[in-house]
Amino acid sequence: MRPCLFIGLCLAGLVFAEENKLAELHEDHAVGRIAFGSCLRQPAGAEILGKIMDYKPDLFVWLGDNIYVDTYDKPERFEQLYGQLGANPRYQKFKAACPQLAIWDDHDYGMDNHHKDYPLKGLSKVAFGKFWDVPATSPFWNREGIYRCVEYGKPGRKVQMILLDGRWFLDKQNPGAKDSYLGKAQWSWLEEVLERPADVRVICSGVQVVKLNANGEKWEMWGHHPSEKKRLFDLIESTRADGVVFISGDMHFGEIYKTAGTSYPLYDITASGLDQVHPHAGKAQPDQLQIGQSLINTLNFGGIVIDWEKATLHLEILNGEGEIHLRHSIPFKELQHPEK
Ligand SMILES: [Fe+2]
Repeated sequence: MRPCLFIGLCLAGLVFAEENKLAELHEDHAVGRIAFGSCLRQPAGAEILGKIMDYKPDLFVWLGDNIYVDTYDKPERFEQLYGQLGANPRYQKFKAACPQLAIWDDHDYGMDNHHKDYPLKGLSKVAFGKFWDVPATSPFWNREGIYRCVEYGKPGRKVQMILLDGRWFLDKQNPGAKDSYLGKAQWSWLEEVLERPADVRVICSGVQVVKLNANGEKWEMWGHHPSEKKRLFDLIESTRADGVVFISGDMHFGEIYKTAGTSYPLYDITASGLDQVHPHAGKAQPDQLQIGQSLINTLNFGGIVIDWEKATLHLEILNGEGEIHLRHSIPFKELQHPEK
């Protein structure tokens, strides 16, 4: 082999290896409809999955509390509960119909409101990766936490799914400390991911990102780590990452929020829960960033419909019957840094 060809191939290999560390690529799977939801208490039930299939998503994201393990010392519960979901014929049909991505929140991580000190987190990660079919080639398996980036479609219609891990590194004792939310390695990975070209970026978080904590709510949210939340928004600004939309779960109600004061509006669509409504749902206090009267406190799931022809995104919350509760449409150009 000629030396220059050999060196060229080696460099190409290095670039490929580097890419692989950042993102898993599915260029041939075009994505125009994304559905998502969270909080499934009964893995053998999940009647709502039929309605989500009727929505015909190209992709579904499980946003955490996908099972309720809730144990410090019964590791067998991971296998039992994932096993029940995996054996559910509705889930099997759904899985065969569209690709699935997942993050975890506290209950499937292992325990209510839990964090970096959860004792079974290593075992929980393995159970998670196996159940959600994380490919053996994914960098997921060679680092701490469950964060991943998966990209779909070709340039011009590229959808970047950014799957955050808000549990593995979470330091609740020091909420003002640097790296107290995502951890150092995940922050630096996120910066590199946001620098990659993409047309629409969906950042998936277990808990709400945009909602303010102004009314002293106890529910977990990024707002309890204000410096980390600011860092997240600043990172979107400094990397000049266009097209960001957040999706989140956890709350047992759905709603849509929108930032003020960022370089372009950052939306956060919360969809929760898939099979339960919490008594606190009706008591949730909206703040001034909520998109008009968007709260739904019955079963629900969320949707992002990408109209590539009209360069428009439709953000949706649907009820348990698959009927649209709220649709908010935004042109792509609204999600661009103003100086671009
Ligand atoms: Fe949760």
